[in-house]
Amino acid sequence: MGVIPTAVVHLANNVYNAAGGLPQRRTNGSSVWGTLLVSALSLFLNNNPLPDGYPWGKRTDIGTNPFTQFPNTGIIRTYDFTVSRGVIAPDGYDRPVLLVNGAFPGPLIEANWGDKIIVNVHNNITGPEEGTAIHWHGFLQEGTPWEDGAPGISQCPIAPSKTFTYEFLATLYGSSWYHSHYSAQYSGGVVGPMVVHGPTQQKYDIDLGPVMLSDWNHEEYFDIIEKMLAPNGSPRVISENNLINGKMNFDCSTVAPGDKTPCVSNAGISKFKFKTGKTHRLRLINAGADGVQRFSIDGHTLTVIANDFTPIKPYNTSVVTLAVGQRADVLVTANAGNSKSAFWMRSNLTVCTPAKQPYAVAAVYYDQADTTKTPTSTPWDVPDPGTCATDDLSLTEPLYPIKLPDPTTTHTMDIELFKNASDVTLWKFGGVSMRANYNEPVLLLANDGNFTYPDIWNVVNFQGNTSIRVVVNNRTPGGHPMHLHGHEVYVVHEGPGAWDGTITRAENPMRRDVQQVRPGGHVVLQFDANPGVWGFHCHIAWHASGGFFSSFVVQPKEIQKMRIPQSVENTCREWDAYTHRNVVEQIDSGT
Ligand code: C2O
Repeated sequence: MGVIPTAVVHLANNVYNAAGGLPQRRTNGSSVWGTLLVSALSLFLNNNPLPDGYPWGKRTDIGTNPFTQFPNTGIIRTYDFTVSRGVIAPDGYDRPVLLVNGAFPGPLIEANWGDKIIVNVHNNITGPEEGTAIHWHGFLQEGTPWEDGAPGISQCPIAPSKTFTYEFLATLYGSSWYHSHYSAQYSGGVVGPMVVHGPTQQKYDIDLGPVMLSDWNHEEYFDIIEKMLAPNGSPRVISENNLINGKMNFDCSTVAPGDKTPCVSNAGISKFKFKTGKTHRLRLINAGADGVQRFSIDGHTLTVIANDFTPIKPYNTSVVTLAVGQRADVLVTANAGNSKSAFWMRSNLTVCTPAKQPYAVAAVYYDQADTTKTPTSTPWDVPDPGTCATDDLSLTEPLYPIKLPDPTTTHTMDIELFKNASDVTLWKFGGVSMRANYNEPVLLLANDGNFTYPDIWNVVNFQGNTSIRVVVNNRTPGGHPMHLHGHEVYVVHEGPGAWDGTITRAENPMRRDVQQVRPGGHVVLQFDANPGVWGFHCHIAWHASGGFFSSFVVQPKEIQKMRIPQSVENTCREWDAYTHRNVVEQIDSGT
């Protein structure tokens, strides 16, 4: 695979234009992300009283084990979400989408470390109706696995016109996101950022908040999957564009001739303000369906201080690489010009991502700059290595060290592509192409003491094991962001070919909730058991839809002891009733 520069500058000029031709309502509904109206986040949300000046007291990111020493603030943050259909044009090309409270990207969920988060989710999807369920990516859900939001695994989908209330603790802190886990619904718009404020050694002046990076398709997710999973369909889904905080321009002259969809070039890009000389915190989130992103800001060095929910020893870089689901908290000092300067922020899908327009830009304006003008800065000359891997594990070392325990069991899973009897190309993970049963969530059966499931659910029961190692061999030509629910996993090793037993920093391995495995390579992950039933899957929406999904039963005896709230059972009853009256077209694995 060839090496390409971070940005290609010969794109149609109308893509690199900061003028903005469509009102925010038309591009993003009720979302204000990407506009200069977004206010900076505070260091923490107001709590009363504040022990030792902070909601988390004397706890620090360097000296506190986040898994065992999280605070209990007793404070509740409540949100109300309505999921519904709408038509917007994030990049100027009109398309039907699914929205949270009318917004794409959805509203911010914000809490302090140790707070409880409550979200009432109303399914208002009509014309046609669809189920839904929202997953709180990266949250551990200790003692509350039924709040994890994975339909067919931890709950039944929320039936049309029904509500489910999620309730869980923020036991880790940092940057994350929520997304629908029903089919590939999230790629249709049901996504938004989450911020849990916590301690940090690294000083900064302004928290600019979430910067969501997402590849973007012009077709609805349902149609994409139908085509992909048709006989002789292709597992490669090619995105049309790349967005920063839900916005980007699109060159409408490239629309296929007979396509009469309304399209406006120069729809408008995202804009950010920097205070000259000050240090800003940006919370980068790859909230896309498929692509690996390479993020940079012309002329500025990024100091990475956290990956996923793990604070790390700060390191400097000009480009941060993020696979789907991954996050990086970066600090950027506005010292590359004068108070009137403007720069491009860039996010490029890597050469490994099938994309028609892989280059997203946003404008960064210093405080006195004219916010209507188009930046003219040039990109860093840091070529895409073309390996389809993410940044080297040796770069990222957790600030709070935890030694890798000896595993009590090791399990190996292969990733494969195959054609089934109907010539449909599907993924196999650990020998099975998964398909969930929305009406029979594994967790509820396990809670009832039922541990025998159809093979096609692809459930692995780890019994009473306390430290579980999983070796994943990628026997396919693409990279895959591997995500485990309910855990911040130790990344034991990642690399090309088969694992030779090497461990990256056994005294303090990287911990995160998504780790990329390169084509033909391996990844070795390990986790300390958190009782529950947890999805372990490729976070590429299209791959999960195509069967690349498994569920881990962890500590089954503990699951049987759990007292699952009645509301979870009610949601199944509502879904059962709905599916008796309606035919639910489950076009994919379901997750
Ligand atoms: Cu971001 Cu299965 O999740």
